[in-house]
Formats: sequence, structure tokens, C-alpha cells
Amino acid sequence: MNPTVTPAPGLLLPTADLPPSFRWGVATSSYQIEGAVAEDGRTPSIWDTFCRMPGAVVGGDNGDVACDHYHRMPQDVALIKSLGVDTYRFSVAWPRVQPGGRGPANQAGLAFYDRLTDRLLAEGIDPWVTLYHWDLPQELEDAGGWPNRDTAYRFADYAMLVFDKLSDRVDNWTTLNEPWCSAWLGYYVGVHAPGRKNFDDAIAAVHHLLLGHGLATQRMRAAATREMKFGITLNMGTADPATDTAADRDAARRADGMGLRIYLDPLRKGSYPADMVEDLAARGTAFPVQDGDLEVISTPFDVLGVNFYFGQDFSGTDEQGNTHDADGHPVVRAILPAGPRTAMDWPITAERFTQLLVRLHRDYPGLPMVITENGAAFDDSADADGNVADEDRTSYLAEHIAAVAAAREQGADVRGYFAWSLMDNFEWAEGYAKRFGIVHVDYETQVRTPKQSALWYRDTISRVRGS
Ligand code: FCB
Repeated sequence: MNPTVTPAPGLLLPTADLPPSFRWGVATSSYQIEGAVAEDGRTPSIWDTFCRMPGAVVGGDNGDVACDHYHRMPQDVALIKSLGVDTYRFSVAWPRVQPGGRGPANQAGLAFYDRLTDRLLAEGIDPWVTLYHWDLPQELEDAGGWPNRDTAYRFADYAMLVFDKLSDRVDNWTTLNEPWCSAWLGYYVGVHAPGRKNFDDAIAAVHHLLLGHGLATQRMRAAATREMKFGITLNMGTADPATDTAADRDAARRADGMGLRIYLDPLRKGSYPADMVEDLAARGTAFPVQDGDLEVISTPFDVLGVNFYFGQDFSGTDEQGNTHDADGHPVVRAILPAGPRTAMDWPITAERFTQLLVRLHRDYPGLPMVITENGAAFDDSADADGNVADEDRTSYLAEHIAAVAAAREQGADVRGYFAWSLMDNFEWAEGYAKRFGIVHVDYETQVRTPKQSALWYRDTISRVRGS
């Protein structure tokens, strides 16, 4: 820890309601930090391909080197240890473990996660494994990607390769990270890999992602020889009507349906929401459900991972006042709440975090939650030694952790909080331009320097624990 940066006074949050047993972590994902994309048998993922598409990623950046974590893993584990967290959430790169997405495990690739797991445990840090954080083997995309049903079965097979290797030591298993991003941004909006723009494909992708989650969960649970926690991580915001008009209320309903309920309803209630099925039918499309799928998808799981960044309002009219777009579809226009923004231009809406968690507790009861990601990008300026006095990020974290405590007070069963991210990294379509780390990374030298927010986080954790 660099002692020259001290946490800002006055940023002591009310942590009285967070119990000493609360889980504290930092999170990363494979493609965003590992680099070493052609080493030890790894084959390309859809992100390696996407990054090569002109204009797809800001600055033409890619994950070829990223934070070079693949080669610096031992030092990075020491860094994690120095933050005083008890949990490290990382993801496994599918094309490292199973090049091409089919067939036997690549032992050299698996060995990396085996070493990482051992190191974490040796430092007393609990490994929290995410099996899929968006790096689909390119060959599976060539075979149709997530809109192709077979990808769900390929995912379950791959999950078992990782599970067989690490389940003697790893207790916490997340199947998917943010399937909304994979389906919506990847197959409909086209701003994430693989960059397709087809609504029907996105709907099929949603269903097959959920099916893959269910299949993998069933197989892992059947193979578990001791108690383990299985879960899925969803990114969720809040969707409020911009005004009280019927059109705005309907837009908020649609946004909430597409963003949250089409995932949580099948997962927890075993059915897709009737209003969304109707909306899709009006567009001439449907989830490609086969007999038995919803039983598989609603396989019980133990923990819901919640990624929260911001909430939004929705309007049912465009700026010209039209209620339908050029294709005749109802307008669903996001309006960012007023107030301060992060470097992503995302609004800072901590109170909506509390609302979301309380609502999840109310509408999908009986499911413990862990905040698997929360954090903010700001335009950090580092001094010559890499120190960053990021009061903005520190405040963001403080407000959002306080929002979690407030939600718990209102009954939400939230058991942990993981900051996104351990360190600055490859921020997908934004490349390296956006820094989410609580640790600064100098990409020229790969030197890591904890920011003020990291020191604040460490001190906060220690205060909550009473240590
Ligand atoms: C989430 C992703 C994560 C990171 C943050 C900022 O959607 O899961 O990888 O990029 O956003």
C-alpha cells in the first residue's frame, strides 16, 4: 500500500448495519485483465474478433495484453490481499480451458486457474468463480453463437471441465455474468461482441443463455460432494416512468420487462412474463422454448449476483412526441436522471440501488443476494508515482455501500459487496479509456498503484469487521 495517499476525512459511512460476517470482495473478468491471448493453447474468443472490427472499440484497443495478469497473477493476488478483502471474483476464459468450445480440457489453460485458486486460498481469500464473462469461443459463434440452442449444451460441458478441476477447493460458482449484455448488446444493439444486430437473435440468445445456466447448475450440483453455492449474476437498474402518462408507464414496464423480468421470472418462477410474451408476439417473435426448458431454467440456485451501476427513467415518446418508431414499434426511450455523472456518462443514483434491492427482495423472495459488481469510472489523474486522489470514486463507493446497508435495513438479504474493479482494465467497447479500478494501472509499465478509494475500501472493511 502506498502510504502517501490518505482517505478523505468525512467519508466514513454508516456501516453499523453491516455485520462483521458481511462478505467483501473485488471483481475482475478474464478478457479484461489477462492478456496472453495466444498462450498455452488459448484460441480466440468473440471479443478478440470484435476488437479487430474497425470502429468497434474506442482507440482500436484490444485485450491482447490488458493488465498482463496472466503473467503477473502472483503479484496481483498479493495486491488483493493487501486490500483486506475476503473474496476475489474472477472469471474463467472458456477458450483457454476448452479451445474452440468443444472437446477435452486444455490442461495448460486450466492450470492457470488452478494456480490462481491455490494462491488465493493460501492468502485466506475465497475464490468466487464466474464461468462466463462474455468470452465465447469464436468457433461457437461461427456455429451460430448464443442464438443457437447447441451453445447452451456446449456451455454446460465446459462448466463441468472447470468444475471437475476446481470444485475440490472452490465453493462459489456463478454461471453467467450479465446475460442481458450478452444477448441485448451483443446480438441486438451490436455494440458488444459479436456485434450482431438482430432482434430475434437476441431473444433466442436470452433463452439459450438461461438454458445454459440451468443445465450447468443441474450438472454441477449433481456432481458436488459437499455444500456449494451456485448462482447467476444479472445487471439490473431501476426503470421508472419519466412522467405519469400511460405511454411513459408502459415504456417503463417494457424496459423493466426486457431488462429484469425476462431473466428473473423464468429463473425463479419458471415462466416468462405474460406481458413480455405478448409484446414479443406483437413483434412476430417468441422465446424458442422447448418442452422441459423452463424446468431446467428454474432449477433452484443459492445466490443472486447483482451488478448495479445506475437507474433510469423511461419515456414512451421520442423527442418529437411520436409514440412509435419508424418500424412501428412502441418507443422506449431512456432518460438519464439529472445530477452528477461518471466518466461513462452514467448518472449517480445510489438511492435507486436501495430501491432495486428492496424490490428484488419483495418480488423474488427467499433468495440471498451478493453485489457482484458496483463501481464507477472517473477521469483519474495520476501523479508521477501513479497516485490517484479519487474522491469521486471513493464517494461513489461510500454512497452505494450505504445504499446496500439501507436496503438490508428494509429487509433485503444482501450478504456481500464486491467492488468493480480491482484494477483499471479493458472496458469493452470503451477500451482502456475508462478506468474503473480502485487500483491504478500504468499500461506502459504495468505498475499497479492503489488509489485513495482502495485505501478507503480497506479501512472501511476493517472497521465493519471491527478489526
Ligand atoms: C459490467 C461488466 C463488467 C464491467 C462493468 C463496468 O457490465 O460486467 O465487466 O465492464 O460493467
